[in-house]
Amino acid sequence: MNKKIITLGGSSSQKSINKEFANYAAELMENITIESLDLNEYQIPLFSVDLEAEKGIPADVLKISEQFKATDAFVLSLAEHNGSYAAAFKNVMDWISRVDGSIWKKKPMLLLSTSPGARGGATVMATALGSFPHLGATVVESFSLPSFFDNFKNDDIVDNALKAELLMKVKSFEKAL
Ligand SMILES: Cc1cc2nc3c(=O)[nH]c(=O)nc-3n(C[C@H](O)[C@H](O)[C@H](O)COP(=O)(O)O)c2cc1C
Repeated sequence: MNKKIITLGGSSSQKSINKEFANYAAELMENITIESLDLNEYQIPLFSVDLEAEKGIPADVLKISEQFKATDAFVLSLAEHNGSYAAAFKNVMDWISRVDGSIWKKKPMLLLSTSPGARGGATVMATALGSFPHLGATVVESFSLPSFFDNFKNDDIVDNALKAELLMKVKSFEKAL
């Protein structure tokens, strides 16, 4: 049976290049079913311990946590804002951690990042590689695509070396499914 993969961009931008990149990477795989999530589809307020004590966990936080539980794997691409997670993504992680400390449910993850800059989100990637294992992630492979608008054109990676590297990592990730 096809494995179910959640794709997610760690961004609330409606034109998120990370959402696009996560979907691109998942579409390179065979015999999978993609569930593409968009943070804009969830009504999730800014986390505070006071709001949580007053109103409890928002319904959409419970919903996304259940969606994470029901998937077989993740392809997540992180946006980088000032060297760290985009606030909307961090907010969702903080809320989910109040439902279940194992945010990523021990499922295999292909962890990506991209940005228009030459480092392709390498700083947020390093942060995630350090902390995600403590948040229940099983990061099988990771890859940062630099200079998105130079290297990704007409829905494809145009730099042969970068594409070959990603394909190799996608194959390795598929074996872990
Ligand atoms: C507030 C803000 C901070 C940013 N900081 C960084 C940064 O630290 N490093 C970087 O490579 N790009 C940075 N950028 C550019 C983002 O990488 C770019 O907006 C990218 O499109 C974000 O990914 P997304 O399209 O998936 O939201 C920043 C953009 C914003 C709006």
